Amino acid sequence: IGFMGAGKTSVAQTLSKSLNIPCYDLDKEIIKKIQIPLSDYFDKYGETQFRQLEHQFLLKYYSIPGVISTGGGCIENHANRAILKETSNVVYLRANFETLHHRINNDKMNFRPIAKKRTTEELKALYMKRLIYYETCATYTIDTDTLNTQEVSDRIIAMI
Ligand code: S3P
Repeated sequence: IGFMGAGKTSVAQTLSKSLNIPCYDLDKEIIKKIQIPLSDYFDKYGETQFRQLEHQFLLKYYSIPGVISTGGGCIENHANRAILKETSNVVYLRANFETLHHRINNDKMNFRPIAKKRTTEELKALYMKRLIYYETCATYTIDTDTLNTQEVSDRIIAMI
């Protein structure tokens, strides 16, 4: 878990290769089902509907053995937080807002509907609001500001 730009997807992939266990990215699984980009889905059906879908996918995947990367807003939903709090080995990839903002702006491949409609101040407010949710749901926290994907993955393996 972690905010947009925390590296959840890449770390999960690296971790899954190192541990030789399956990897499920909830956003990718959702996209497979809806068959349109997330930003189009947000435009068409709105965030509330997306959150419901995200909840269904977390329910489906959280107990399957493997690595799961969630979307950054997965912790917005109370029921999702309850699931995560009961799940072992939930890793929060923490980073400073400046680091995340830089990564979000540079990631042209991943068009983020939540970021595109917000000013920097609004995005920072969202980050601040979510911090407590990530913290309370996490079993482990890793500061990722100065680490690359492999280093984060190695630390997770050492921790768990
Ligand atoms: C969201 C983050 C996205 C994706 C959706 C909503 C959010 O995932 O689930 O656009 O609310 O923070 P990433 O954290 O992988 O960008």
